[in-house]
Amino acid sequence: MSTLVIVGAQWGDEGKGKIVDLLTSRADVVVRFQGGNNAGHTLKVGGEQIIVHLIPSGILYPNITNIIANGLVVDPSVLISEKAALRERGHFQKDSQLLVSDRAQVIMPYHKIIDHGREDLLGKAKIGTTGRGIGPAYEDKASRMGIRVGDLLRPASLRDRIYNVMDEKNFLIERRFKRPKLNPEEVVQEYLSYGEQLAPHIADTTIVLQSFVRGGSHVLFEGAQGTLLDIDHGTYPFVTSSNVVAGNACAGSGVGPNVIEKCWGVVKAYTTRVGEGAFPTELTGSLGEELREKGGEYGATTGRPRRCGWLDTVVLNHSVRLNGLTGITLTKMDVLTGISPLSVAIGYELDGKPIDYIPSDINEFGRVKPRYREVKGWDEPLSDCRSFDDLPKNARDYVEMIEHMSGVPVTLVSVGPAREQSILRKTPF
Ligand code: IMP
Repeated sequence: MSTLVIVGAQWGDEGKGKIVDLLTSRADVVVRFQGGNNAGHTLKVGGEQIIVHLIPSGILYPNITNIIANGLVVDPSVLISEKAALRERGHFQKDSQLLVSDRAQVIMPYHKIIDHGREDLLGKAKIGTTGRGIGPAYEDKASRMGIRVGDLLRPASLRDRIYNVMDEKNFLIERRFKRPKLNPEEVVQEYLSYGEQLAPHIADTTIVLQSFVRGGSHVLFEGAQGTLLDIDHGTYPFVTSSNVVAGNACAGSGVGPNVIEKCWGVVKAYTTRVGEGAFPTELTGSLGEELREKGGEYGATTGRPRRCGWLDTVVLNHSVRLNGLTGITLTKMDVLTGISPLSVAIGYELDGKPIDYIPSDINEFGRVKPRYREVKGWDEPLSDCRSFDDLPKNARDYVEMIEHMSGVPVTLVSVGPAREQSILRKTPF
């Protein structure tokens, strides 16, 4: 057995899709364990760009099993259209490449209406969600009102469950959010048809995964979002609705903690965030604009411009601690070429006192002022570097500074979006 969890170590969009896609060449199974189609993992292969939102990033390799595990919230219409789009481009030719847990939760039309309705009513206080119905679907899971993927294959109980739940949903939709009510029978018919289309993929994935683990397979757990968006450990309430941290790879896929061997955090060489919420190292002027343009920092899911700022090692060390990171994969180093000096936050000041942690109170977090260290940048383009020694000295120093400040080895440095633009310093499997 050999297992690796990959998680985002900042606010998401660190470049996990590329890293998972790259490491997948050495894996037998790729498992997504939380979130839904709020994620957007961009893969670049042979000049072709593919963005997947729900299907694990291992789908481009024909002989790998991809699992959408129990911890996800699944929008079946998105899954079906993502599958069709991949097929049309010559990928995902065999149904056996993808399994979907019968225990995963289903995103229903009312979840999306409620997600949008809430955000509209919150006005300025909105979270800035992706509007995909993620939060309301997780709420229903916790309140035992959820529809699960396996229900899509059981017409009588699906109808019962939808009718039971929709009284309350329609009350909210009509009275609170002032939108037209949904017709439960239409919802039943639509979701039964999704069940038929997805039937070849639906399985008890915990049993399948367990047999891979017992058989000594290489398993890669693909996290979505980032640690600072974790519902418990992130910048609450400006977070997503699931546990993003590596520990949830177990509950979210149905394996015991003794199965997890390594955990690598994906860290962008600077910081970005989409949606609302405090962001201490944010650059709001021309430098932020430069990072956004050079780094192509526009959301893969919603197209929103990402807020950009300096690397923050308080954020990084929060992630190291909460995930138990054993490695860091550093992405987008090439984007920093030509920017000098570079600043890196090495601590905060809160109301005049130095601190080195993320306060749990969002108002306190909003008041922290970063303490910066300035380091020299470099002018050489990095996109053709293929070994650590190919990097200019100041870029190597930047990597080593991150190792020093976090106490975690940088196992991979990414210098461009393509698979080959990667310097792998340690093999995961
Ligand atoms: P939700 O997950 O759609 O409920 O959105 C909650 C917050 O998480 C918002 O700030 C989103 O912008 C953010 N978010 C959700 N998924 C991602 C992601 O994959 N990358 C970056 N931010 C995300």
